[in-house]
Amino acid sequence: MSILVTGGAGYIGSHTVIELLNKGEEVVIIDNFSNSKKEVLNLIKKITSKDFKFYEMDYSNREKLEKVFEENPNIDSVINFAGFKSVGESVKKPIEYYMNNISGTLILLEIMKKYNVKKFVFSSSATVYGEPERIPLTEDCKIGGTTNPYGTTKLFIEQILQDLYKSDNEWSIVILRYFNPVGAHESGLIGEEPQGIPNNLMPYVVRVASGELEQLSIFGNDYNTHDGTGVRDYIHVVDLAKGHIKAIEKINKEKHGLFIYNLGTGVGYSVLDMVKAFEKSTGKKVSYKITERRPGDIAECYSNPKKAEEELGWKAEKTLEDMCKDSWNFINNKA
Ligand code: UFG
Repeated sequence: MSILVTGGAGYIGSHTVIELLNKGEEVVIIDNFSNSKKEVLNLIKKITSKDFKFYEMDYSNREKLEKVFEENPNIDSVINFAGFKSVGESVKKPIEYYMNNISGTLILLEIMKKYNVKKFVFSSSATVYGEPERIPLTEDCKIGGTTNPYGTTKLFIEQILQDLYKSDNEWSIVILRYFNPVGAHESGLIGEEPQGIPNNLMPYVVRVASGELEQLSIFGNDYNTHDGTGVRDYIHVVDLAKGHIKAIEKINKEKHGLFIYNLGTGVGYSVLDMVKAFEKSTGKKVSYKITERRPGDIAECYSNPKKAEEELGWKAEKTLEDMCKDSWNFINNKA
């Protein structure tokens, strides 16, 4: 049996493909390289010494997607990483975000149904919780109140999947709510490569450390947190990737159902904690200044990851030091 991975050349997709191949799974990747590089495919092969099938295409192209299912009748599950993911960009380009993320997923689900493939793993986000009802967040916390179109696409797709499962209980769906993915593969060969100036904290920090950017702006130090800066649940991308392996095991075991899991460490670190941890683990200095709060940011957001541990047997294992070191190693390797 084989697993179709959309967006398999992207940041989380590529790390997940490595874990799947290492486990001996057969993988078919589709990607249009809208936010990833072709060379990642060769690096995946180099890291794993394994091969996979690849199609360069948009995941929302019906005809091409049908061809993928026709040519690979052994595909029996799909992990959907394809989609746009920049919060700031989504505010400026809502139509593109709703079109690509929601229409794309709908087309994918429609074609899956046509080929009777009903096992689906979806990349959702802690952003669906909006302003957290309580901390740490459990999967039954209220969702909604997202503050940007990107987050709303994740919320809407979760609803679509709920409705789909209600209409046809033969589906087996796992929704994974990621907290803040950081880090890179320990080989230093693949990692996160945002185009232009990064929006997220860790890619910005590594670029200040490398001298590519001058100074980090810390968005506010007057939040109600232990040092006033925003608190998040940072999770190593390899731990996150391993969560997908467990999700696939779950849908293969259970056959039917819709399951939702937080993928986080359960520990919150502030922006200043992150800067200090990065400096300590890499020996590099990170120059920063305190600026205004960023609109839409919340004070703290971290998970209770117990449900994933109990039901999937998954638990984040990498340390904050691993996250910092691996992020740095990846950028340093490229220089
Ligand atoms: N931050 C800074 N300076 C920066 C960048 C970030 O101080 O240059 C701070 C933010 O204010 C926040 C923390 O660092 O307190 C983390 O910010 P990120 O932009 O790295 O991450 P967010 O928590 O804002 O958002 C991330 C993903 C979203 C996802 C969300 C889920 O980017 O895709 O987590 O909670 F929806």
